[in-house]
Amino acid sequence: MNVPLLDLVAQFRSIKDEVLPAVMAVIERQGFIMGPEVAQLEAAVAQVSNARHAIGCASGTDALLLPLKALDLKPGDEVITTPFTFFATAGAIHNAGGTPVFVDIEPSTFNISPAAVEAAIGPRTRGIVAVHLFGQMAAMEALVPMAARHGLALIEDAAQSIGARRKVDGTWRMAGELGSVGTLSFFPSKNLGAYGDAGMMVTQDDALADRLRRLRLHGGSKQYFHDEVGFNSRLDTLQAAVLLAKLSHLADWSAARARHATRYTEAFAGHPAVCPPRTDPANVHIFNQYTIRVPRRDELQAHLKAKGIGNSIYYPLSLHLQPCFAHLGYAGGSLPMAEAATEQVISLPVYPELTEAQQQAVIDAVLDFYA
Ligand SMILES: Cc1ncc(COP(=O)(O)O)c(C=O)c1O
Repeated sequence: MNVPLLDLVAQFRSIKDEVLPAVMAVIERQGFIMGPEVAQLEAAVAQVSNARHAIGCASGTDALLLPLKALDLKPGDEVITTPFTFFATAGAIHNAGGTPVFVDIEPSTFNISPAAVEAAIGPRTRGIVAVHLFGQMAAMEALVPMAARHGLALIEDAAQSIGARRKVDGTWRMAGELGSVGTLSFFPSKNLGAYGDAGMMVTQDDALADRLRRLRLHGGSKQYFHDEVGFNSRLDTLQAAVLLAKLSHLADWSAARARHATRYTEAFAGHPAVCPPRTDPANVHIFNQYTIRVPRRDELQAHLKAKGIGNSIYYPLSLHLQPCFAHLGYAGGSLPMAEAATEQVISLPVYPELTEAQQQAVIDAVLDFYA
C-alpha cells in the first residue's frame, strides 16, 4: 500500500466547499493587498495564541527575521538557539546581523536544553530563539525567567506548533504566549497550512507590535513616509482567506494527529529498536511530525521507500555543522545530542486524514524491517 508522508489533496477535497468561495470572494473584489481577511485572520490567531497582537507577514522565515531586526543587532551580537531545527531559525539570526550561538538539545524532546542556554549566555548575548520542535513546546518555565534575569529577548519559533500548549507554573500557556514574540509559519505542510507562503508574529508588547507592523511595510507607519528601512513582507490576502476557512478545523486536525501518534506509540512500545517520541507530561503536543529514533536509520528509510511508505529525515545535518556556518568554528562532536539525533531520526506519516489501514501498513513496514 502506498502511504504518502502528507496528503494535502485529501484535505483539500474535504474542505473545498469552504475554501473556494472564500478565495473567489477576494478575486471578485480584486482586493489582494491587506484586504479585510488579513486583519480577521490576525484577530483569530491572536485568540488561538492568547496574545494581544498578531501581525501577519510573508512567511515563517520573515516572522523570525522581523523581530530579530527589531533587536537592532550590532556586529558580534549573539543570539542563542538550537542546531536541531529547520534552517530558517539560524538563517534569520544571520540575516538580521547577529551571530547564531548553537547549544545542545534535550534528547527526549529534541528541544533546546535550558541548562545549555544558561551556560552559553555571555556579554554579547542579546536574545534566545527557542524552537517548539515537531509540535511540542520547549521548557518555557526555565527560559522565560532566564531571559528576564539576563535582559534578553526570548523569541519562540512556533512554526511547527500553532495551538500547542504547556503547563507553566500551574497554568496552561499557548505557544507564542510567553516569549517577547512568537513566530508562526503557514507553510503548506504545517498543521495550519496556506496554499503558498505565509507567516505571523504574536506578541503581548504594544510597542513591539507597532514596530513589527512598520517593519513588514517598508518601515513606515504612513504610506510614503519611512521611519526606518523595512521589508515588503505582507501576508497575502488570498492566503489569509484560505487560512481563515481552514482555521475552524485546526483543533480537530491536531487532535487527529495526536490520536495517530498515540496509536504508533502503542504499536512501538517496548520494541528493542524503535524508540517512539516522548511527550513531556507538561505539554499538549500537536504532532506536526511523528519522529522516531532507530538504529540503521538509512536502511530503514530505503526499506520504507521500497514499500511505498512516505517518510522524511528532519533533520539530516545539524546547523552548527552546515558549510555556511563553518566560520563559526564548531567541530563535529561539539553538540553530541543534536548530532546523534541527525543520525537516528525518521518521521512517519501522521497527517489527519491517515486511515487506520494506511497507518497499519506503516507500522507493519517498520516492524518487518527489525523482525
Ligand atoms: C522551525 C521552523 N522555523 C521556521 C520555519 C520557516 O517557515 P517558512 O517556511 O514559512 O518560511 C519553519 C518551516 O518551514 C520551521 O519548521
